[in-house]
Amino acid sequence: MKKQQTILITGASSGIGRQIAKTLAENGHKVFAGVRKKSDKIQLEKLNKNITGVYIDVTKSSSIDKAFWFIIKNTDKLDVLINNAGIAVAGPVEGLTAENIKEQFEVNTFAPLRMLYKFLPMLHGGKIINMSSMASSGIFPYISPYCASKRSMDILFNAFALENKDRVKVISVKPAVIKTPIWNKSVKHARELFEKQNETVREKYIKDLLLMEKNALESNNSGIDVSKVALKVLHIVEKNNPKPSYCVGIKSNLAMMLSAFPQGFINKLIKFKLGRL
Ligand SMILES: NC(=O)c1ccc[n+]([C@@H]2O[C@H](COP(=O)([O-])OP(=O)(O)OC[C@H]3O[C@@H](n4cnc5c(N)ncnc54)[C@H](OP(=O)(O)O)[C@@H]3O)[C@@H](O)[C@H]2O)c1
Repeated sequence: MKKQQTILITGASSGIGRQIAKTLAENGHKVFAGVRKKSDKIQLEKLNKNITGVYIDVTKSSSIDKAFWFIIKNTDKLDVLINNAGIAVAGPVEGLTAENIKEQFEVNTFAPLRMLYKFLPMLHGGKIINMSSMASSGIFPYISPYCASKRSMDILFNAFALENKDRVKVISVKPAVIKTPIWNKSVKHARELFEKQNETVREKYIKDLLLMEKNALESNNSGIDVSKVALKVLHIVEKNNPKPSYCVGIKSNLAMMLSAFPQGFINKLIKFKLGRL
């Protein structure tokens, strides 16, 4: 029996986060599972007695503060913080606003930092596992806000890993496309943002939007099962010296490798894929 660890995970109501909470709890770990709705808290707590739902909206400091006091009342230590909550803002750059991109960074980049600043005093010698993505390679057009938010998170936390004096390890998990509700939500959101654009932009980019929607839904349908990410996270939680970064799925390894090539080469390849050469 492995040593029981106490873990806080954000965004546990669905998809990857829910499966991670379930897998960790089934393996004997104590899980504080971040949710925003009462019904999600009830459902998660029914899954396993090792799960305690905790309300966290990661974009609100007051909500993070409340979660911190709840957790401190219920445990004296935290071994692992998993920053999993995320959204995907998509669209051609010209069809977005700075506010749209800020929304993306609020959830995927600034929120993990807020969690770090709040929970660091409880994490001495522990781990932070960040749910990054193969999008952190930065090579994909039409989801550039998402790519940039994940890349920025990785850069900031890698620097923290090198700098911090509390022996906190940081691990970035970079899954390829996983079958979860995120892609349907993202397509719906992208359509709403696009429809707010002026007619000139809409005319210029309507074909791109349709292609983007088709790709998102197709890749979701052929996506990897959430259990693959959850088992990787279990492995990281239980390992004494995990690596700083793990890809999940071969496409993630390929994307990370490709991103090391010269930009001109990468762009030619992407244009070829998009039928623009
Ligand atoms: N699916 C993929 O292909 C894929 C690949 C690589 C990385 N990832 C990453 O994996 C993570 C989980 O995504 P998923 O695919 O499992 O999608 P998902 O099923 O849509 O889950 C997203 C989770 O984030 C939560 N969330 C969103 N905004 C939040 C906020 N402001 N405060 C607190 N929680 C919030 C959602 O809670 P509510 O239900 O309350 O909205 C939900 O629990 C994300 O960081 C995503 O970028 C996903």
